Amino acid sequence: MASVSVDEAMRRAIELAARGLGTTSPNPVVGCVLLDADGEVVGEGFHAYAGGPHAEIVALAQAGQRAKGGTAVVTLEPCDHVGRTSPCSTALVQAGVARVVIAVPDPNPVATGGAATLRAAGVRVDLGVREAEAESGNVAWLTAMRRGWPYVIWKYAATLDGRSAAADGTSMWITSEAARMDVHALRATVDAVVVGVGTVLADDPRLTVRNLRDGSLAIRQPLRVVVDSVGRTPDDARVRDGAARTWVATAEEVGTGPDGGVDLPALLAALHTRGVRAVLLEGGPRLAGAFLAAGLVDRVVGYLAPRLLGAGPAALVDAGVTTIAEAIDLELTDVTQVGPDLRITALPRKREG
Ligand SMILES: NC(=O)c1ccc[n+]([C@@H]2O[C@H](COP(=O)([O-])OP(=O)(O)OC[C@H]3O[C@@H](n4cnc5c(N)ncnc54)[C@H](OP(=O)(O)O)[C@@H]3O)[C@@H](O)[C@H]2O)c1
Repeated sequence: MASVSVDEAMRRAIELAARGLGTTSPNPVVGCVLLDADGEVVGEGFHAYAGGPHAEIVALAQAGQRAKGGTAVVTLEPCDHVGRTSPCSTALVQAGVARVVIAVPDPNPVATGGAATLRAAGVRVDLGVREAEAESGNVAWLTAMRRGWPYVIWKYAATLDGRSAAADGTSMWITSEAARMDVHALRATVDAVVVGVGTVLADDPRLTVRNLRDGSLAIRQPLRVVVDSVGRTPDDARVRDGAARTWVATAEEVGTGPDGGVDLPALLAALHTRGVRAVLLEGGPRLAGAFLAAGLVDRVVGYLAPRLLGAGPAALVDAGVTTIAEAIDLELTDVTQVGPDLRITALPRKREG
């Protein structure tokens, strides 16, 4: 087999890492490609689930003796601690790897130090190869680790005139089946799906990841969270159907925020403690407004249907904006047509002060 460059190997490692999205929490996604001394690929691995082998260990097992004198190309700094598995830094040294190329340093204070351990053992370590790409593939986990609360994606569906429901309150289905399938794929990448009790009372959603054609459930389900100050979620609500774990987060349990609802930073902190790193906020408009007003949204994903209603609730309510100068500005990062609808992805711009 022909030899590959370290840069090509990192591109492949980033692809491999993405296979773990949605199943590794509270761990990151990680991919690893092992090159032998001649630069040939002799092992590949990714971290598939917490408690399972790390990417480096999978790749080392494939490479066997051919790892000796070779190069490990890995998307995240190899861990240096004994968790549910032993340190990857030690395993790489023991396998006789001569060089380790890392895209992103590990911000986790418990696991960091792998690069230093490797260098101390005489292994050449290079950091920063394809760093931005690897960072973006792991953005939820990295952001959550650096600041101590989960990465929040607000997803909504609306008509082209920005309505999230019709005047009589009906909202199923604003967008197409293709867009809803896309939402299920998005749900499958997060650890928790969050809605306000208003949405549960209005729509009685299941909030599970499932095949929309036959209704079959995905093996791994995100935690379902209902933000419900005084516990109005009915006993027979679908979110209580046992198909996935559900947490009805009340103000009594989490704390009360300045507007009398559930304290949202405390809610996110509690989710972080439970191992949640990525959250999909699915509405409705009032809860989304509160999250945005508090600056707690990291990414906006809007599904816009080519339909008009002319009346009915807006996709967003009370986001703390009263004049145009206070508008929450977004930076568009992607516009994709999904079936007949548009999926728009955007990042809130950081505000001054
Ligand atoms: N198109 C879409 O993407 C989409 C998505 C979801 C929902 N919807 C539509 O939205 C409508 C429901 O809207 P909604 O605004 O009533 O629902 P919501 O945002 O899901 O729920 C709002 C409720 O959450 C509770 N809450 C607790 N803590 C809060 C806090 N800190 N900030 C804000 N709210 C807090 C409040 O009730 P308590 O005071 O009782 O706690 C509040 O009334 C339905 O018609 C539904 O179809 C549309």
